[in-house]
Amino acid sequence: MVTIGGGSSYTPELIEGYIKRQDQLPIKEIWLVDIPDGEKKLNIVGNMAKRMVKAAGLDWEVHLTLDRREALKDADFVSTQFRVGLLEARVKDERIPGSYGLLGQETNGAGGIFKAFRTVPVILDIVKDMKELCPDAWLINFTNPSGMITEAIQQYGKWDKVIGLCNVPVMAMMNEPATIGKELKDLTYKFAGIDHFHWHRVWDNSGKEVTMDIINKMYDGSETGLPKNIFDVKFFREQLNQMKMIPCGYHRYYYRQTEMLNHSLEEFNQNKTRAQEVMRIEHELFTLYQDPNLDHKPKQLAERGGAHYSDAACEAIASIYGDKKTHMVVSTLNRGALPDLPSDHTVEVSSIITASGALPLTFGHFQPAERGWIQLMKNMELVIDEAAVTGDYGLALQAFIMNPLIPSGQAAKDLLDEMLIANKKYLPQF
Ligand code: NAD
Ligand code: G6P
Ligand code: MN
Ligand code: MN
Repeated sequence: MVTIGGGSSYTPELIEGYIKRQDQLPIKEIWLVDIPDGEKKLNIVGNMAKRMVKAAGLDWEVHLTLDRREALKDADFVSTQFRVGLLEARVKDERIPGSYGLLGQETNGAGGIFKAFRTVPVILDIVKDMKELCPDAWLINFTNPSGMITEAIQQYGKWDKVIGLCNVPVMAMMNEPATIGKELKDLTYKFAGIDHFHWHRVWDNSGKEVTMDIINKMYDGSETGLPKNIFDVKFFREQLNQMKMIPCGYHRYYYRQTEMLNHSLEEFNQNKTRAQEVMRIEHELFTLYQDPNLDHKPKQLAERGGAHYSDAACEAIASIYGDKKTHMVVSTLNRGALPDLPSDHTVEVSSIITASGALPLTFGHFQPAERGWIQLMKNMELVIDEAAVTGDYGLALQAFIMNPLIPSGQAAKDLLDEMLIANKKYLPQF
């Protein structure tokens, strides 16, 4: 097992996920890989990982390394959770758009586009190493923007043994059933769309659709599983009545664009963007991780927006390894599951996870409103990935103009230029 970006504060959740599945996964070695800038974090969280494994009475070897190639040699599973440019780059992604009066967000708007630009060259390098050092391994990606990175791995890396993950569907499935007095095992969930832009429908075990029952609960304060990093502006009730699907938490950046922007700018003006908040949470977490007596995941990790994503990674690995045929929502090649989108591109969709990877379940056509959105967003992702690979300025500009959260015009171009300069160190392709 190799994890690239091993110094992440989420690593204890990953280790916990492996420990939980010790009967399903005959692990011998865990390799946590980082870069010199992350060495301090790697050591702290890596030692914590070692304590967790020991406390569970397991003899797994936990290796900490800055040498990615050493770790990748003969790996069976590689998971990726790195952040190119560290949190400083995220501060720029959030604050530079904010200074133009625009939304600054990790995976949406201009910030999300630049996160893709910085990350695609690195992930393609990793794939190149994998082809040489572990050609049979599976790649489990949650490096954001997870859908676009998974798409780049398939289209440009020509690597098919990949599954892209996100915790948003996981959290919805963890929290929604209880709101209607049910358990997950008695419900059938079907998700469709792309990462951070999917919808879902739900049925009970008599075959009755319960999507609207859950939607009703979204308005009475029930905990429906919105990640901590997203400000809760309610969707318009009349829109959901028409849609008859449950949007994902990120849809509010589009459906309630003005309100979400205003909230984001309020935070920007108070110097309180999410990256700055995450720095505070991380400081608290790494202080805890340094306690030599701590050998389990602390509850404070739930303050991170991505809580539970590492557990999903472990489940995906166990499902591939054990051919478990589990239902999971993953980024994978469409293959006709969503006929409104090209069949040879990545979508995020309910799938059955087998030894041969994800088999997407057919969802069918969208209504015109959702079809319009998803086609715009998916094609924008393709433009972003091509720009990230080629460094073509015109394509980068096209992506900004297509993005619904960036009003097109001179200011969009000025923002693009400023962000290109601010990220120069991490953009060899431009
Ligand atoms: P982080 O800032 O803690 O970064 C994780 C580690 O990556 C750091 O220790 C850093 O030093 C290391 N790193 C940076 N560049 C690297 C490189 N080139 N090679 C190897 N390691 C490198 O980030 P985080 O908050 O733990 O998030 C990690 C990633 O996971 C981000 O891309 C984030 O957006 C993503 N994420 C995804 C989801 C999801 O739903 N898919 C949820 C949460 C986080
Ligand atoms: C969300 C997502 C991630 C996102 C992250 C941010 O729930 O699914 O893709 O980027 O959490 O969390 P953070 O704590 O870093 O703001
Ligand atoms: Mn996500
Ligand atoms: Mn635009």
